[in-house]
Amino acid sequence: MRHDTVIWGARVVTPMGEVKTDIGIVQGRIETIGTALDGADMIDASGLIALPGGIDSHVHISQPSGPGIEMADDFTSGTRAAACGGNTTVLPFCLPEEGQTLREAVAAYRAKAAGKCLTDVSFHLIVKSTDPVTLGQDLPALIRSGYTSFKVFMTYEGLRLTDRQILEVMAVAREYGAMVMVHAEKEDAIEFLRDRAERAGETGPCHHASTRPIPVEREATHRAISLAEIAGVPLTIVHVSNGAAKEEIERARARGLTVYAETCPQYITLTAQDLDRGGFEGAKYVCSPPPRTSEEWPKIWAGIEQGTFDLFSSDHCPFRFADLAGKDAPGARTSFRNIPNGIPGVETRLAILFSEGVMTGRLTLEQFADLTATNHARLYGQYPRKGAIIVGADADITL
Ligand code: URP
Ligand code: ZN
Ligand code: ZN
Repeated sequence: MRHDTVIWGARVVTPMGEVKTDIGIVQGRIETIGTALDGADMIDASGLIALPGGIDSHVHISQPSGPGIEMADDFTSGTRAAACGGNTTVLPFCLPEEGQTLREAVAAYRAKAAGKCLTDVSFHLIVKSTDPVTLGQDLPALIRSGYTSFKVFMTYEGLRLTDRQILEVMAVAREYGAMVMVHAEKEDAIEFLRDRAERAGETGPCHHASTRPIPVEREATHRAISLAEIAGVPLTIVHVSNGAAKEEIERARARGLTVYAETCPQYITLTAQDLDRGGFEGAKYVCSPPPRTSEEWPKIWAGIEQGTFDLFSSDHCPFRFADLAGKDAPGARTSFRNIPNGIPGVETRLAILFSEGVMTGRLTLEQFADLTATNHARLYGQYPRKGAIIVGADADITL
């Protein structure tokens, strides 16, 4: 059979292990995995590794982050960066703006993305209110039409939900079969620490980290898991930054609960000291949860190697630096509370995990594929069409 394209000579990472083989592609799908294949377009991949195209299931694109604050990437630049970093699919969030329903938010993000994307894109929702229309109509209708994952926040004024509200959202997830993703940080404790720091004149970027210490995340992780246990739903804890929160997840799993977990490159490469770089430079590293100490890195690595973490995502959330609509927002130099939260990462996620994980011998190529693609597809409803190099799947391949 003559294929449209054949990738030949690569070490191919499949769910059955690594094989030296060719991949035959017809009309964008993997038609054949075998040797000596014939194709109109022959891609010489000898000396290269063929991996399932990266799926970054945690990115923020074109998402407003407060009045006048703009994300640096739109859907063209964000998906271009993703493709340059070896990704073939990204999953950004639909955040309803003030006065917008969840369904209107989905329509707005689809319009922002239309005709602009260089990778495949599929959306998660953000549930920030629990009014009867959202929970009784919009969310069920959206889940039925395929929007089966949504994030809830335990922090950020204006976004955070109470425990009661989180339970209400989880009840909808249970009824209609969806996945709840939780940003686990306790807002009350953060506000207490933030107010106290400001009164003491501790207002520089580094105090973003000192006012969101590990117990803030550990406690919220435990509470989110308990809420899911009460509601009877699986959940995903996103962007886990430290060993204590990771242990909460391991304890929950030991109790028999279904808890999925995600970590990100910043939690194995950055520390809170980066937020203390001279001048206003530290603002570049302000994200939540904040980077910790390098003592947390081996604990996160243990979770990556041993499978506590199913997902290695970027939490890509880029802002321009010298820009009033970005990190240098009004009031940001007066107090860290006004610095937009988030750092970029969609372009560097695979390279970081490859160099720090595979090249150091910590991870096999199969683990790398699971952490960067396969598990994302499985968890968010895209497997087996995406996430693996298998016959019948989309030809989403990274060399
Ligand atoms: O600081 C971060 N992580 N910004 C993006 C929004 C979020 O909480 O994931
Ligand atoms: Zn978050
Ligand atoms: Zn995020």
